[in-house]
Amino acid sequence: MRITVVGASGRTGSHVVRLLCRQGHEVVAGVRARRRGDELAELGARPVVVDLAADPEHMVDAFAGSTVVINTAGAGDPDPAAVNLVDRDGSIAAIRAAERAGVQRFVQLSAQFADAPDQGDRLVRSFLMAKQVSDTVLGRSSLVWTVVRPGTLTDEAPTGRVKIGGHLESGSVPRADVAAVLVAALDEPLTEYRGFDVHGGDVPIPAALAALG
Ligand SMILES: NC(=O)c1ccc[n+]([C@@H]2O[C@H](COP(=O)([O-])OP(=O)(O)OC[C@H]3O[C@@H](n4cnc5c(N)ncnc54)[C@H](OP(=O)(O)O)[C@@H]3O)[C@@H](O)[C@H]2O)c1
Repeated sequence: MRITVVGASGRTGSHVVRLLCRQGHEVVAGVRARRRGDELAELGARPVVVDLAADPEHMVDAFAGSTVVINTAGAGDPDPAAVNLVDRDGSIAAIRAAERAGVQRFVQLSAQFADAPDQGDRLVRSFLMAKQVSDTVLGRSSLVWTVVRPGTLTDEAPTGRVKIGGHLESGSVPRADVAAVLVAALDEPLTEYRGFDVHGGDVPIPAALAALG
């Protein structure tokens, strides 16, 4: 299956690319700057430029032929203008481009409390509100969607075990485990048309997803 990963050069995105390549998928690695694509090509992916802040027309071409888009991109700059440009408007542009390109499935890496920004940390509220808007647009799109809302991301080694729920208390989770959840969601129909929180935990990832009921 051909899968495009947006934000493929990111810390979570590169884990996603590695896992998908290992599984034998045809992986298109969407990178903002072409120079970031070399390492991803070494993993077996085909780098293409996907810039959420640029003219969306290029995303339609980049996504054409992919069955799935996994969006792991996020603004590096916490300034609300940058966050709105990437995490809100850019994500929405990617959703619309995926619809136009004939993509079937869209998996969105969001953030815990994006479904209820008033309950999240005030310091990241504009980020949560930007994610909330794009997650809502995805939920109303024609795509088969999944929204994954992790707690604070860490660079700890993956455990392969998580806690998943509709609304969890604050927590953290390794980026590598979040990447494994994003990939495993493709094999679990119960993740379709759903959003859920993810923390580090003690349930193997496939079992945690299968328990979504
Ligand atoms: N940090 C946390 O604790 C936390 C918690 C919950 C959710 N999240 C979300 O989880 C996601 C992944 O986080 P992370 O820490 O793994 O991210 P990261 O390492 O900062 O990577 C972000 C990726 O987004 C890309 N990007 C930025 N602007 C872009 C644009 N205009 N067009 C296309 N790509 C763009 C970056 O490209 P370049 O390599 O070119 O910069 C990079 O590949 C983000 O959406 C973040 O908001 C983070």
